[in-house]
Amino acid sequence: MNAPTTQLPSMRPTEGQLALAEAIRQGETRRTDTIATVPASRYTDPDHFAREKSALFDRLPQVLVPSALLPEPGMAVPHDATGRPLLVTRDGEGTARVFLNVCSHRGTRLVEGDEVQCAKRLVCPYHAWTYKLDGRLLALPRPETFPGLEKGEHGLVELPSCEAGGLIWFSPDKRADFTHAETLGEDLAAFGLPDAHLFRRKTHRVAGNWKLIMDAFLESYHVTRLHAKTIGPFFKDGVTAGDEIGPHLRSAVGRLEEMEAIDLNDMTQMRKVVTFAYQLLPGTVIVPSPDYVNVMVLMPQSHGETLVEDFMLIPEEPQTDKARDHWERSWKLLDGGVFASEDFRAAELGQQGLESGALKELTLGTLEGGIARFSDIVQDALRAAN
Ligand code: FES
Repeated sequence: MNAPTTQLPSMRPTEGQLALAEAIRQGETRRTDTIATVPASRYTDPDHFAREKSALFDRLPQVLVPSALLPEPGMAVPHDATGRPLLVTRDGEGTARVFLNVCSHRGTRLVEGDEVQCAKRLVCPYHAWTYKLDGRLLALPRPETFPGLEKGEHGLVELPSCEAGGLIWFSPDKRADFTHAETLGEDLAAFGLPDAHLFRRKTHRVAGNWKLIMDAFLESYHVTRLHAKTIGPFFKDGVTAGDEIGPHLRSAVGRLEEMEAIDLNDMTQMRKVVTFAYQLLPGTVIVPSPDYVNVMVLMPQSHGETLVEDFMLIPEEPQTDKARDHWERSWKLLDGGVFASEDFRAAELGQQGLESGALKELTLGTLEGGIARFSDIVQDALRAAN
């Protein structure tokens, strides 16, 4: 679908994006030479999942939300789906921060709910200790009853975070290194993500292992088949290229439009003929369609259940009903149709089948090398954690 009113800003692709698009123009199929396999137990074994959670989700830098969720200074949103009570803020200076959503007085949850709030300060509901959005304790009632208390030592507990390319990353580990997040930020900025408007967001509960969801975005073998009634007809079958940025994967798939007359140095033109996808360790998928971008953050709850928060980002806030209708149709097509009814459904069916014990391993063809590669990356991270 093309936006009826929105003019995309003219962006230049990064060198890496250009190289993949050129490979697509040459008809690259990114074939490996041999069949690969992945043990089924990596999707079904609760102990394996516990090791993944500890090595990946309790340790690595990971995307939490897009910047567009908190577009202005003075905003805050509770976030619980990672299993920690988090609070994401954009302070008065415009800096994005991630805290534990816990009052430093007696540990009460500071902000309730899960909606974005506009607030200059956060007031604990119990005794009204009051914090600035940069986490500092600003004031407390009857301060004379806390003789000797240093307010500077009673701010909110802040976790390492980083904002790059229109995404807010955090890590539960104080030693987090956000170098690759910064590098990826250059790619995502080329899609206009730092200035994007959040159109819709929705959290899906998927009865499948988190890697089965990643797998649906790691190969193009299924695109013209699983998605035959939705987006499949827009794509060439199996014309794909990919590379890596640190532990993250970047892939591109050719669309059916003719590429000959396209100036690949113009991102708006490139997006009409090539669709990129980013599969970020541990569990984020980014799919830039021709005129909007979906960011999906995977938050595993157990070996067989995953929360996926899908954010749809558009170039600017819709100004007319026609524009709103257009984006609403795109939202329904991707979030409800392609993702929920097809990709997530395939993950659930995969979990049901693998849980039966019928297969010892999954068989991957030469168009599915991305799944084997991501599985290797996860295994490397497990070893590194030990
Ligand atoms: Fe928050 Fe007392 S627990 S003010």
